Amino acid sequence: MKAKLLILSLLCLSFSARAEGPAIIPAPVRYSESAGYCSRPQKVKIEIGRRRFNKQLAALPDFARREAYRLSIKPKGIKIEALSEEGAFRARTTLEQLMAADDTLRCCSILDYPRFRHRGLMIDESRSFKGLDFLKKQVDAMAQIKLNVLHLHLTDAAGWRLQVPAYPALADSAAWRIGKSYFDWERAGYPFANAYVEGAYGGFYTAAELRELVSYAAERFVTVIPEIEMPGHSMEVNRVYPSIACVGPDGRPRSFAWDLCPGNEGTFELLRAVLDEVMDIFPSEFIHIGGDEAVMKDWKECVNCRRRMEEEGFSDVHELQGYLMRRVEGYLRSHGRRAIGWDEILDSGLSREAVIMSWRGISGGVRGSAAGRDVILSPSTHCYLNYYQDLIRKEPAACGELVSLRFCYGYEPIAPGMDESHILGLQGNLWCEYIPTPEHAEYMLYPRLFAIAETGWSPAEAKDFCGFRERAAELCGRFRERYYTTFDLDTESELARSGFQRFEQLEAYKQSNSSLR
Ligand code: ACM
Ligand code: ZN
Repeated sequence: MKAKLLILSLLCLSFSARAEGPAIIPAPVRYSESAGYCSRPQKVKIEIGRRRFNKQLAALPDFARREAYRLSIKPKGIKIEALSEEGAFRARTTLEQLMAADDTLRCCSILDYPRFRHRGLMIDESRSFKGLDFLKKQVDAMAQIKLNVLHLHLTDAAGWRLQVPAYPALADSAAWRIGKSYFDWERAGYPFANAYVEGAYGGFYTAAELRELVSYAAERFVTVIPEIEMPGHSMEVNRVYPSIACVGPDGRPRSFAWDLCPGNEGTFELLRAVLDEVMDIFPSEFIHIGGDEAVMKDWKECVNCRRRMEEEGFSDVHELQGYLMRRVEGYLRSHGRRAIGWDEILDSGLSREAVIMSWRGISGGVRGSAAGRDVILSPSTHCYLNYYQDLIRKEPAACGELVSLRFCYGYEPIAPGMDESHILGLQGNLWCEYIPTPEHAEYMLYPRLFAIAETGWSPAEAKDFCGFRERAAELCGRFRERYYTTFDLDTESELARSGFQRFEQLEAYKQSNSSLR
């Protein structure tokens, strides 16, 4: 096995020694070098919307045309051509990366546009609250690597992170737990408090802060999509508004219930108030409404849920999830928005407008797209950036399998059985149960987020792991100079470097741990 790994690494080294092309991530669609260098600093000429460039790109889909650009670097000057400000912005990020990578700017021509329209990152702000400065810093990083969607997981059992004036207890209490880490809080029995209680951990975003983030991101052509979880992952709501929670057999509210109560009209009043606030703050076409991992246990016994089932003619509690999701999705649609949901919503009977986010592997993506639904791919196997990035024994505790840089980079979103025309793109997800600090979050993101960015932007046939790894190591260095924490690729184990997953990681762990042999 060792010999095989060594050969793989040497192969990578020999390829990378020959690797050509610009030192940028994501790799561009077309790159050609010409003789000479461009002295710096230079004035950059920008042409937007010229007929000739427009005609050259006529065959591209609209989203790609909007972001397309040509960057020409000649001894006497630099020129950017684009069809929109967004395209010109993408060109400038390429130029910035080229200038940062090398003191001498080699003459070249780059024609570039994205493969997918949705190239995203999800950050879980519930399990650990990282704050506005952290989010802005990640938006800066996303813009550099041409990612264009920040999906914010704003609510979950471990903390509600959005101030809603009509429901003040969400920010006053559901945003503050006792237990800095998620697991401290779990061990303590899920206590909530308020900001003034000693040992309280948490926080929330005001509307003004979120508006600031939305406009900061928009200036960098990143759209912020908020997520409000429902009906599962919602214990924090039941804890602070027990009057809308499911009712137990003893007639008392189940304030520790995991799911919202679809039988209580109060639930829908709260969701309407929350979504009104969300739509007021976030102009995004899409609003994420969760939908994953409802346990439905309390629904079986709750008098309100049972009444709802009887009225609606439901024979199974699973139908209550569809009932709630359909009402919420319809509400968003009536306001001109589209819902996104985790792939469980495939069974909720939502309108064709709703978008599937495939996380339990890619089967939701196959099923959804084949049924004519738009899909975003974030399979946990390849896109969960909270999973281990190297062997368990050398990494801070994480969850899931090994998603090494190589494994993450190897992900190809289009799979047999999918209708490609419905694949909007992909995103990396960062769940934060095991990630208590902003620095740790960055450590998990970089460089794997670079891999997501290249998969989302560059043509599949242009991808090459060895060249990418070299560029990723360089970009990590530049990120560290700008005070980002990154994983150090120089310390990556041979196993992770070679792209193994699952079983191999366990074996390596066992071998290094004699007590487990
Ligand atoms: C998920 O990871 N529960 C969407
Ligand atoms: Zn109920």
